[in-house]
Amino acid sequence: MQHDLDRILLDRKTIAARVHAMGEQIAADLTRDLGGDLEHGKVVIMPIMTGSMIFVADLIRELPLKLRLELVAVSSYPGKSMESKGVKLRGELPGNLEGKHVLIIDDILDSGHTLDVVSRLVREQKPASVRLCVFLRKPGKASVDVPVDYVGFDIPDEFVVGYGLDYDGHYRNYPQIGTLRPEAR
Ligand code: IMP
Ligand code: MG
Repeated sequence: MQHDLDRILLDRKTIAARVHAMGEQIAADLTRDLGGDLEHGKVVIMPIMTGSMIFVADLIRELPLKLRLELVAVSSYPGKSMESKGVKLRGELPGNLEGKHVLIIDDILDSGHTLDVVSRLVREQKPASVRLCVFLRKPGKASVDVPVDYVGFDIPDEFVVGYGLDYDGHYRNYPQIGTLRPEAR
């Protein structure tokens, strides 16, 4: 697996420090929303599968408050394609979001279609608040305007893998963010 990687853009230490800082910021914002009542149980974390799972696993352990996880499955890069093929919601969106504080989390904001579609569907359920969080963002690439509340890192417009992000299903378990060698594609 290591041999297929070209350049490391973000190493483990850099990632861990940033995720810790994001956790503090998100916890502070949610605490304010909840009026300081961290045991209220009104927080719903909604990870968009599968790319966000590593990030979410690390991030939620930085959040010292009562929360629920509600997964959403979406695919926009089926198979070996590196171009967005449009967003497909797989299965149903979790219900009962009315009055909840929802934090939607994705691995990367690229075209913006995924978060646009999911956040629209979530808002239809009248939650108390909706926030969007991504680990990575490719600035200037989004073709739809989605306001994201939390961004881990802005990265250049290159195809990256690791820390949950895949190419054809592989490399999600690689602990850093890197680019792929051309031979590996
Ligand atoms: P968007 O809907 O175009 O914003 O794309 C978001 C989804 O595309 C992410 O959840 C990823 O699954 C995938 N994606 C976009 N860029 C990359 C990349 O550089 N590496 C791996 N997956 C990517
Ligand atoms: Mg993906």
